[in-house]
Amino acid sequence: MDDLELELCKSLHKDHMITLQLLERLETTLGPKSSDLPDTTGGDFRNLLTDLVTVLEAEVKGHFAFEEEHLFPRFADEIDPAITEMLQGEHEIIRPIATQLTDLARAALKEGFTPDNWDEFRNAGLELVEREVFHVQKEEMGFLPGLDEILDEDEDRELNMMYLSAT
Ligand SMILES: [Fe+2]
Ligand SMILES: [Fe+2]
Repeated sequence: MDDLELELCKSLHKDHMITLQLLERLETTLGPKSSDLPDTTGGDFRNLLTDLVTVLEAEVKGHFAFEEEHLFPRFADEIDPAITEMLQGEHEIIRPIATQLTDLARAALKEGFTPDNWDEFRNAGLELVEREVFHVQKEEMGFLPGLDEILDEDEDRELNMMYLSAT
């Protein structure tokens, strides 16, 4: 999105794009169902698992928490509480799936997948892709442009510094 003015909105947008890229890689990898367990000892699949742990943790612990604590209340007051209630509800559904997935990815990085773990990982991964792509798209369409209108320059600078140090 080129028309966002505020540094904070640009930072949030940048992280949304990193998340979408990761979800796309995850979806491509999980797409064709195969009976073979993936090789977790090296190559693309191992890189994906490593990136998944890093990106999802920053996302859930940093990005989600920051939105909930600093941005949703402000947006609710000035624009529309129904929107932030919906976004918050989506965070609450996504958070446990992301945690489940990072736990499975960590275990797989150490000792590979068992058939059961791989099944669980695939299902959780596909569910995360579906829910989170939709969530990010909603924030990109309604939430960020709205936020971009209501914060002044000083608030923007301060919030952006806080966001960058929290993620
Ligand atoms: Fe969000
Ligand atoms: Fe977001």
